[in-house]
Amino acid sequence: MAMQDRYNLLAEKAGSALKGGGDERVAAQHKKGKLTARERLLLLLDEGSFQEIGQLVMHRSTSFGLDKQVFPGDGVITGHGTINGRTVYVFSQDFTVLGGSLAEAHAAKICRIMDLAMRNGGPVIGLNDSGGARIQEGVVSLGGYADIFHRNVMASGVVPQISAIMGPCAGGAVYSPALTDLVLMVEGTSYMFVTGPNVVKTVTHEEVTSEELGGASTHAAKSGVAHFTAANELQALDHLRELVGFLPNNCEERAPAFPYTAGDESRPALDTILPENPNQPYDIREVMNAVIDPDSSMEVHAEYARNMVVGFARVAGEVVGCVANQPAVLAGVLDIDASIKAARFVRFCDAFNIPLLVFVDVPGFLPGTDQEWRGIIDHGAKLLYAFSEATVPRITVITRKAYGGAYDVMNSKHIGCDMNFAWPAAEIAVMGAKGAAEIIFRNEISKAEDPAEKLTEKENEYKEKFANPYEAAARGFIDEVILPSETRIKVIESLRMLRNKVQRLPRKKHGNIPL
Ligand code: HXC
Repeated sequence: MAMQDRYNLLAEKAGSALKGGGDERVAAQHKKGKLTARERLLLLLDEGSFQEIGQLVMHRSTSFGLDKQVFPGDGVITGHGTINGRTVYVFSQDFTVLGGSLAEAHAAKICRIMDLAMRNGGPVIGLNDSGGARIQEGVVSLGGYADIFHRNVMASGVVPQISAIMGPCAGGAVYSPALTDLVLMVEGTSYMFVTGPNVVKTVTHEEVTSEELGGASTHAAKSGVAHFTAANELQALDHLRELVGFLPNNCEERAPAFPYTAGDESRPALDTILPENPNQPYDIREVMNAVIDPDSSMEVHAEYARNMVVGFARVAGEVVGCVANQPAVLAGVLDIDASIKAARFVRFCDAFNIPLLVFVDVPGFLPGTDQEWRGIIDHGAKLLYAFSEATVPRITVITRKAYGGAYDVMNSKHIGCDMNFAWPAAEIAVMGAKGAAEIIFRNEISKAEDPAEKLTEKENEYKEKFANPYEAAARGFIDEVILPSETRIKVIESLRMLRNKVQRLPRKKHGNIPL
């Protein structure tokens, strides 16, 4: 074959790969409001940076007419590229080719990308849009999934793994995203479930739509499977680019910092942010926003367990992970969902060298049979465990209440917090004054001429002693009581002081977090 013919053959093969499943299927994809796998990659990555790997890979199956349906690339586009100049490893499933279904060759391509990411220490981003296991290829599809699951676990804590769900994701296929660190779903066009509405109807007789069962809002608000949602694919891809900016390449590195010029770091508005009445709510995000760099935050799990706020932000240009009780929702109480949400976030930050900045205003754990019977003991312990084993720089600011076990759990000095500040209105005690007075002065109150008056008197006595930060400060449980307006200064200085923190956990195979 002449050289020019060889070049032409290459062009022809590459051209055929670029067509995906053909014009008709591409049009159908667009009609659903979805982009193609290649269009998504072009928007996700820096212009001209995508380098494809395995474009000509094809399946070898001849079962059920597959020998007549062979497409270069086998339904997934894989490779690497850059986001704001930093290398990421990507795969993007092509629904126009056999419904993006996964089988031997398709899975091997994804595994190859994950292996490269692990070896070279870079984030993996998967754009999922697939009908699941390729039915014609049978058990090799299941093997392919398991090969990916195993790599997801091996890569966990080594490189950040992000899953964007941009179409169907059902059956066992949901477990790869579930094993990754952060999951984003697109509203209206994506869904995730282990068994679909038809199976649900047969087994439980429930009538439910795909959207209700496993759409973006369901997983963002009810199950917590999705950390982020986006209104459409363009927003989703933009969000992924922004998200990568908060993450290091791998567990040996730090997240990239922004340049920062010191200025007046006092925040006088914080001195009037707390209501006079300690039982009145306020929005902890206002406190956080005043302490972090302006407009630098990205909330994670914003719709799930809203009594806890977690998210990435920057302080003096450096990335931090913020964790905060939210007094504006359920008084900021710690319940099962809030504990799990925060525990997972704390572990992610710790795995990837992101310092933790924790704001505490918590009345305690949520009482009741519902919580106890569903195991708040174990779930609350997850948060305790996650903070206790975190070795990144850890700073706590107690803005108001820190009661009971929740005081201990919320990154207290006792479980390894590095710097612990309290505002003057902080109340650090075993429990609220009224409840405490009712218990320890029960006899005195019941015998009093006016029990209500006695209760108030004893409540005030207890409040006087414990509803302040000074008992804790006297024991060194609090490093400094500060004016709210000084918080940003103290946080910046603490982060600077802790920048080179090195702490090693005792040697072990692995711990046993109460799952
Ligand atoms: C092979 C598939 C496929 C699959 C879709 N296609 N899913 N081919 N294996 N799993 C093909 C269709 O035949 C069709 O081919 C094309 O993809 C587009 O599919 P449509 O049905 O036309 O699209 P749509 O109407 O949008 O419906 C999408 C869908 C539906 C809801 C995903 O295709 C569907 O229900 N597919 C089957 C899903 C499923 O049961 N998967 C296996 C789950 S078990 P043509 O040639 O007509 O364009 C599983 C186990 C994993 O995944 C276990 C891991 C441990």
